[in-house]
Amino acid sequence: MFERISKTTAGARTAIADGLRRVADRIAGSGSEVLGEKANLLAEYVTSMPSPQNAVDSVPGWNMVLPPEAGATGGTGYYFCDPRIEWAISQHGSLAGATVLELGPLEASHTYMLHRQGAALIDAVEANRLAFLRCLIVKELVGLPNAKFHLGDFVKWIENTPTHYDMIVGSGVLYHLQDPINFIEMLSRKTNSLYLWTHFLDDAAMPEDDRRRTVFVGGVETIRHRDLDIRIIRRSYHNAWTNATFCGGLSDNHMWIYRDDLLKLLGACGFDDVRIAHEDHQHPNGPAFSVYARRASV
Ligand SMILES: C[S@@+](CC[C@H](N)C(=O)[O-])C[C@H]1O[C@@H](n2cnc3c(N)ncnc32)[C@H](O)[C@@H]1O
Repeated sequence: MFERISKTTAGARTAIADGLRRVADRIAGSGSEVLGEKANLLAEYVTSMPSPQNAVDSVPGWNMVLPPEAGATGGTGYYFCDPRIEWAISQHGSLAGATVLELGPLEASHTYMLHRQGAALIDAVEANRLAFLRCLIVKELVGLPNAKFHLGDFVKWIENTPTHYDMIVGSGVLYHLQDPINFIEMLSRKTNSLYLWTHFLDDAAMPEDDRRRTVFVGGVETIRHRDLDIRIIRRSYHNAWTNATFCGGLSDNHMWIYRDDLLKLLGACGFDDVRIAHEDHQHPNGPAFSVYARRASV
């Protein structure tokens, strides 16, 4: 019996050793085809003293300064203490025990803020692989046990989730979408409390000869929706995605919506209490504001 076991174990050991040797040979020699051009798995090892900074440096493209608890340096944007999110939370009221859907967390700065307010569950849906990994690193470094990061398209999430959230937070995402009108419709079915920070179109805030209009492609389209005429315009990233810090949407064809039409649409979707803040017509990328929309009747 013992002998049989030890023979089997020895055989398994030999097989594993042979397998590893073959992989090592392929990587060291002509094995670049295993993992693509000139793969060098040894370069993936970090040989210094383990540290938060090692974790941060393992993924490129950081945009945001990390919360102090992280003990490491990321990017330059101070979004973990963003006054827009403080305002959104103040409009909603206490998040203690709340379920929250966060759209496009990027590097979990806002997730961190929502978490600190006591949310019981934050589903944070991020489509960009690098951003998703950066979120996981922040989660590990600062501890966000109630946040669950999901890699994929939040439009599909909204279409398929059975959850009705206490609050949905969508900062910097609406103007990256191909169909913002139907997206607002879908969001309105999944919450009674919605926060958006978004760019918008407005002819007075950004007239025809405004330099910021050069990124638009084609003219204004009018979509008939729910007895409303909603004006949208197509925009392109013009290759901005070649940088690891890119934090746009999934398609070069993304649509911006007119400010007043967005507000009308929110009203038509049943949000009877719509509040505005942080209106900035001089933002370098185009006019922007915060909108908090809720159903006061529920
Ligand atoms: C401009 S950044 C905004 C980041 C953060 N919410 C903020 O306000 O600072 C947009 C984020 O949404 C993500 N994103 C855009 N479209 C998405 C989609 N359809 N599904 C999931 N994530 C998306 C991007 O990858 C990026 O992380």
